[in-house]
Amino acid sequence: MSEVSKTAPTPSPTEADLALFRRAVGRFATGICVVSTVWDGLDHAMTANAFTSVSLDPPLVLVCVEQEARFHDAIVSCGRWGVSVLDATARGTSAWLATQGRPLHGQLDRVPHTRGEVTGAALVDQAVAWLECSTHDLVTAGDHTIVVGRVLASRLGSDDHGALLYYRSAYRTLD
Ligand SMILES: Cc1cc2nc3c(=O)[nH]c(=O)nc-3n(C[C@H](O)[C@H](O)[C@H](O)COP(=O)(O)O)c2cc1C
Repeated sequence: MSEVSKTAPTPSPTEADLALFRRAVGRFATGICVVSTVWDGLDHAMTANAFTSVSLDPPLVLVCVEQEARFHDAIVSCGRWGVSVLDATARGTSAWLATQGRPLHGQLDRVPHTRGEVTGAALVDQAVAWLECSTHDLVTAGDHTIVVGRVLASRLGSDDHGALLYYRSAYRTLD
């Protein structure tokens, strides 16, 4: 590698580069979850697909949260949170909890949920699995924060419904 290329600053991506990047990563099929926490006595919840398991020992997961999302301050401040891995019937819930500017007060009124025994976070009923976590690490990464969670409790839902997926910017289901 030449001296010039070692020291040259990384060029800023163009709009076209970013559009292509979004389309390319959108071809990585994912599940969808709702991450939730209680902060200042108020339920906060957000749809997320930038979620993955990280480690078995100790059990760790991560979710990437946009710093501009209202959920960001809530999860960073609270430190205890839940993950509901959505089932195939939860398309409406996913769309609702991804709607920017929706009222925070009462946002879960029409979303059936149960309180996590460990964290008190609202866990969405339309799910195939639930996790409860405490924050293990926070890593700033561009305009998102990678929130690494230590899993405190795991629970499985029924096998009646398949999973809700996201692929090429559209919902799909896996039965
Ligand atoms: C399928 C899907 C997946 C999403 N995944 C994420 C994600 O992983 N991280 C994130 O910060 N936002 C994600 N979003 C966007 C948030 O759900 C959206 O910005 C939401 O309105 C944030 O709510 P809040 O402002 O109340 O925090 C996703 C949206 C959709 C539709």
